[in-house]
Amino acid sequence: MKPLILHVVGARPNFMKIAPVMRAVERAGFADVALVHTGQHYDAAMSDVFFTDLGMPRPDHFLGVGSGSHAEQTAKVMIEIEKVLLEKKPALVVVAGDVNSTMAAAIDCAKLRIPCAHVESGLRSHDWAMPEEVNRVVTDRLCEILLTPSRDGDGNLLREGTPKERIFFVGNTMIDSLLQHLPRARATSTLADLGLASRGYAVLTLHRPSNVDDPAVFARLLDGIETVERALPIVFPVHPRTRKQLETFGLGPRLAAMKGLRLVDPLGYLEFLALTSQARLVLTDSGGIQEETTALSVPCLTLRENTERPVTITEGTNVLCGTDPAVIRREADRALATEIRDGRVPELWDGRASERIAEVFRVFLSDRGVLPRA
Ligand code: UD1
Repeated sequence: MKPLILHVVGARPNFMKIAPVMRAVERAGFADVALVHTGQHYDAAMSDVFFTDLGMPRPDHFLGVGSGSHAEQTAKVMIEIEKVLLEKKPALVVVAGDVNSTMAAAIDCAKLRIPCAHVESGLRSHDWAMPEEVNRVVTDRLCEILLTPSRDGDGNLLREGTPKERIFFVGNTMIDSLLQHLPRARATSTLADLGLASRGYAVLTLHRPSNVDDPAVFARLLDGIETVERALPIVFPVHPRTRKQLETFGLGPRLAAMKGLRLVDPLGYLEFLALTSQARLVLTDSGGIQEETTALSVPCLTLRENTERPVTITEGTNVLCGTDPAVIRREADRALATEIRDGRVPELWDGRASERIAEVFRVFLSDRGVLPRA
């Protein structure tokens, strides 16, 4: 019988990071794979469409955790995943990114003495006001296999005293998904459906609590975005958290007056990739989109004070703008005035990170005596 490797997903940014890893492990053939979906994200547009677009199998276990406070959400995931772990006794668990489901699963594994591997390990914003920073640090402290997407991740982990035998610089699995699916994304009718021309529009996403939970910050961001919206149309797929806050703060009329801004529902993976890959400019507070635009050589303005993904700035197309409208305006003008800059694609963002991860797992399980030594 083969050992079982259990993959955990919970929220939207997990799906594209785990799908290629699961596939690579399955292809390598040394282990059985299973998928747990915690249900942190549950809307069709935030979850189901990603399974279809990424060709992911249906989850073997759906935990139906849903929304709640951080404590509630984390605790519910811990309670429910523990049951799966006790029943299935996996040889290894794989978590990804920095959402509450990631940390909850890592805590359970540590208590049950089940080895856990963290995909996208070592990233640090050094901003403890971000719930994701707490999740990243706790997850990395508890996992036995730390899979970093960029060398800065290795540096962060080593500085925190992590034994170097745990750290594996493998590259970026989100870029594995991007490179695999880009041709299909480009073949969709997304641009035509929205009446857009390639490089003739910008894309905006906002969902960070620090941006959308504070009406003053949200309004400041709109001040900055207004200039861009006068220069070219902006497509704004609205995250459910952001939609709720727009309504709470009564920002509807303000947005309606911004004629170039097109609010749309959250998009699927392929539709969104079609949109970002052909955009003139992307404005975002997402972590993953900073990486995707770097891989796509599309200029990106990050509407945050810090980033846990510094290679997107030092090597890629990303510029950190914060939330000051004057800075957003200045950087948008600059980006629109210059030819699209190429930026370098960071080391090992080559579409093969998941293959390298499967090999790390094989060696780990061999060393542990779970698999016969090669
Ligand atoms: C979570 C992650 C964040 C990630 C983001 C991507 C944490 C701490 N945060 O934030 O790192 O960047 O996902 O989207 O894990 N909601 C729905 N339908 C859904 C999911 C959520 O309507 O399918 C609404 C609910 O009102 C919920 C709110 O969105 O309360 C926030 O959802 P939650 O999972 O708490 O965090 P996100 O803001 O999505």
